[in-house]
Amino acid sequence: MTAYSLTPLTPQFGVEVHGVDLGDPGTDGLFPHIRALFEEHSALLFRRQVFDDTRHLAFARQFGPIEDRKADERKPGEGVEVSMVSNVRADGSVTDPNEAHTLHLKANLLWHADSTFLPVPALTNILVARVVTTEGGATELASTRAAWAAMPEALKARVRGRGAWHHYSQSRARISPELAALPQFHKWPETHWNAIWRNPVNGREALYIASHVRRFDGLPAEESQALLDDLTAFCTQPQFVYSHKWQVGDVLVWDQRAVLHRGTPWPFDQPRTLSSLCVTVSEADGLDAIRMAS
Ligand code: OGA
Ligand code: MN
Repeated sequence: MTAYSLTPLTPQFGVEVHGVDLGDPGTDGLFPHIRALFEEHSALLFRRQVFDDTRHLAFARQFGPIEDRKADERKPGEGVEVSMVSNVRADGSVTDPNEAHTLHLKANLLWHADSTFLPVPALTNILVARVVTTEGGATELASTRAAWAAMPEALKARVRGRGAWHHYSQSRARISPELAALPQFHKWPETHWNAIWRNPVNGREALYIASHVRRFDGLPAEESQALLDDLTAFCTQPQFVYSHKWQVGDVLVWDQRAVLHRGTPWPFDQPRTLSSLCVTVSEADGLDAIRMAS
């Protein structure tokens, strides 16, 4: 078996995994170890990977079903593809600062978990750096597991037992009302998830919130937004955050059940491309326990 070693990304969560070649199909035998590290540390970094789309898909599938938001748009026979988180157009030019696609990317600068607005949310996002910027453009992760463990009881009490309602247009509305009105952000009805996600492997609880939260049970819109802001501010204090400065070939994987993330700004005339695959949560990941009545 390949010998790998670990170094922490922060004192609270996340590890860099050394000595693993994800581009090599022979590495797949190591997956049970990688999955155990994911459950334990919430974020994994692999550097200097030679990792094509085929290997990206194969690695992602080991975590569970690949998220497929465009299943209804594809022709029969077309398979799921790796998505690009990118400001580069097909012709190689960079998108304009105020066009809808750029605004959509700017919504990634709000702290969120991915796909909480889908009927089944994401377990993980596996990002691979393809084109990186000379300044800015870091991706930041915040451990809502470490933050929940450290949260004062008064703040915990405001959210415990409450479900949160999520909608895709909610986060886009925080960037631009015109963006939020686009049909692509109204494809799915509101979802309703418990705001605490207990990891079924190790029993550790984490706060499960996102920029997509529209309201919490029993709270009017304004109080819901204030609660979301207070919780997000607590969880994203520096002691709970890892900021990842990208190099080409980096592969970053995180547990959406226990981590918030965001992009950080960069000079938007610089190209930036990450390839991304989200994996959908399975029942064994604790899905049933976060489902709330609709
Ligand atoms: C994402 C995301 C942030 C970034 O791909 O889901 O939020 O730094 N990306 O691009
Ligand atoms: Mn995201």
